[in-house]
Amino acid sequence: MEVTLENLVEASPHQNSKKAELIRASLGIGTILIRTSLPMQSSSPAVVMQNFLPIAYFEGQFRDFNDAKLSIATHALHYGTGAFGGLRGIPDPQNEGQVLLFRLDRHCQRLSTSARLLNYDLPAETIQAVLMDFVKKNQPQVSFYIRPFVYTSDLGISPRLHKVEKNFFVYGLELGDYLSPEGVTCRISSWYRQEDRSLPLRGKISGAYITSSLAKTEAVESGFDEAILMNSQGKVSEASGMNVFIVRNGKLITPGFEQDILEGITRDSILTVARDLGIEVVERPVDKTELFIADEVFLSGTAAKITPVRQVETYITPTHRPITTQLREKLTAITEGRDPAYEHWVFRVSL
Ligand SMILES: Cc1ncc(COP(=O)(O)O)c(C=O)c1O
Repeated sequence: MEVTLENLVEASPHQNSKKAELIRASLGIGTILIRTSLPMQSSSPAVVMQNFLPIAYFEGQFRDFNDAKLSIATHALHYGTGAFGGLRGIPDPQNEGQVLLFRLDRHCQRLSTSARLLNYDLPAETIQAVLMDFVKKNQPQVSFYIRPFVYTSDLGISPRLHKVEKNFFVYGLELGDYLSPEGVTCRISSWYRQEDRSLPLRGKISGAYITSSLAKTEAVESGFDEAILMNSQGKVSEASGMNVFIVRNGKLITPGFEQDILEGITRDSILTVARDLGIEVVERPVDKTELFIADEVFLSGTAAKITPVRQVETYITPTHRPITTQLREKLTAITEGRDPAYEHWVFRVSL
């Protein structure tokens, strides 16, 4: 099999790729890039296969995804002065011709808040209207992910947020499971989560994702699936793009907002649902050791949904996961529009 920089797919040691195992063994490396025969729409080298939705929203217009292109001099590309959202949509299992978007309003509010942190006034209602149109134009038939992005669109140098043009684009891709629903192994990262005193962590600021990227690659290249980052106080903060939960003695525990976490919308949904189910919920600082001895550990995020953690460093987490399973089943029913009590979280778009 040819190893090439074109048409690549990432194979981590925990993905079930026989070919990957063979090459890894012969080359003696932890993570490899292998050529696959699967089709790719993007011509650029990529490490994850992606099927982009055909229509993007770019510079105030809907247009072909392939025609939505930025200049190499774009300000945000150099300074990380962008912010993004990420939300999931699924075809309504009960009604053909309808798509369900989970907590669309909250996602739009968070992106609007992130935009404000970039000195850009972009109302949540404007974002929401564009996203609804975006879905109608694309007519998605399978599960998908929408990536709206606000950014400093000026061409030129000088890191700043004042007197620079801003803009907003949206694209989407088909997305099934981002992490294995069977569970993942996690490494405690040598990289630490940033602090709010140096970066506004309440927004999803693109520049902040250098730390996530370093942590994820370090984890995967050393044989794990995911990274869990501590904060500068040495307490558990979050994973590369997910919040962290543990269960101990029947209590659901997660780091609070003061632990430099992103205010995850899935996290918020889990906490609400858990309380409604009568599960005791505690938001408090979590020590690294607790990850090793917890009864259950899971990650939460729009892309990851609820992903069980099978192992943290060398410590194996029990496979009996009653609370994780209960929450996951409940959240799945809610996102599929099957739970009337949470109907207000589900936005229905007729195609
Ligand atoms: C750094 C980080 N933390 C947590 C999350 C989870 O947030 P949400 O549940 O809103 O997707 C994400 C994903 O958006 C993220 O990027």
